Amino acid sequence: MKAFFFFFCQRLHPYTPLTLPLSPPSPSHETGRYFAIDIGGTNFRVIYVDLAPTRGGVARLELRDAPIPDHAYTCPVDGLFDMMATTLLAFGKELGVLGGEGAAPPTVGFCFSFPCDQTALDGGKLLKLTKRFNNPGAVGVDPVAALRAALARAGEPAARVVALLNDSVGTLAGGRYADPSVELGVILGTGTNAAYVESAAAVTKLAPRAAARLRTGKVVVNTEWGNFADVSLPTLPADLALDAATPHAGEQLMEKQMSGMYMGEIARRLLLELADQGALFAAGAVPKALREPGALTTADVAACDGDRSVTLGGVARVLAKKLGATGTSYLDRRVVRRVCHLVALRSARLLATAIASLLRQIGRDGSEEAGGGQPPPPRPAGVAVDGGVFEHYALYRAYVAAGLADLLGRPAAAAVAVKRVRDASSRGAAFLAAAADHAELGAARAESARVGEVPALAAA
Ligand code: BGC
Repeated sequence: MKAFFFFFCQRLHPYTPLTLPLSPPSPSHETGRYFAIDIGGTNFRVIYVDLAPTRGGVARLELRDAPIPDHAYTCPVDGLFDMMATTLLAFGKELGVLGGEGAAPPTVGFCFSFPCDQTALDGGKLLKLTKRFNNPGAVGVDPVAALRAALARAGEPAARVVALLNDSVGTLAGGRYADPSVELGVILGTGTNAAYVESAAAVTKLAPRAAARLRTGKVVVNTEWGNFADVSLPTLPADLALDAATPHAGEQLMEKQMSGMYMGEIARRLLLELADQGALFAAGAVPKALREPGALTTADVAACDGDRSVTLGGVARVLAKKLGATGTSYLDRRVVRRVCHLVALRSARLLATAIASLLRQIGRDGSEEAGGGQPPPPRPAGVAVDGGVFEHYALYRAYVAAGLADLLGRPAAAAVAVKRVRDASSRGAAFLAAAADHAELGAARAESARVGEVPALAAA
């Protein structure tokens, strides 16, 4: 954990894509009607928001979640964008705000949670897909242009897609809107990532002249830490085997040890190893389903880890329901609980280490080292976290807190405000669309000027 702590930031930067010099968006000055699309996890979401003329007011907010159909993960990339476009237009028609006589075409913010080199507020280049997505033709595509084209194919050629953001940036923005001490936005759901506020001078991918022109002297860095790979990652044979079986082998190695998409599968592989060595389940009684990839999920890991009953009835239920293993011994159930615990603990300690390391990088981990040896050190920054694992797995949150205490010391760790935020990325996409739209209309010249700095960034 310590080695990882010291090297994480130094070795993270090569994984970080181009980032826009962008202040986190604030919904407070904007009015109008906006849509947002949010894709990247297990669900796909569309949002409609009517921002009221009163400062910061939201007159109407409608939100629809839809599971992503299996074929959408692997169809040619246009099919994926067509699915988003048709869902958004159907949603708008259902709400009675699109498609009718005199209805204005939609203005859309797009939260697209994959690594992109972002070259403008409304444009970028997809570097790769991650998680379950493996759509031919995706790499190199500009997600905004692809969505505009799909909206045109679906019958709205005048639709405007005005803003693109990553979910980690949306979480940072949402957290910061509620509490200005938040400097770090973290996602721990299907995938994992973090964005933080960095001094422009520290970003080597930013040309010095562009950095010097920034009003705030700050940029938001989307770290893409899920792609971190280093010898300090605690890699097991089961991790290597899991990685080899994914559509993106060799990529997102830290994510594959940590996030919700993978923890169940890591546990399954470890349990199978034990069963094959004769250390788990009676001889000849290894459940067949244990050999099937995906048989256990992260929710199963959480249920087993959290089972405090005397007979471990919760573990027994998971084993019966998911693996068809009935009549397991108490010892088997103890082993299963322990393995699930260790899988979750490793993930949580990696998360704590990555958070602490980024806080140290910006001098806000509350330690004297971070304050340049000058007591009192600056107050630790706030951390906003979103994502299903963090939200639904209470023990996991306790493991992260304990990990932060180990690294930073109890007093500093206790002062790090880790806040759970929900849905910030999708709302952030709608609010950013509003901010961008107003900038485009000339209502905020400063915003336009900052967008104008982007080519210098791209050339860096
Ligand atoms: C993606 C990130 C995203 C994260 C959480 C990762 O697989 O590369 O861009 O923020 O998942 O959704």
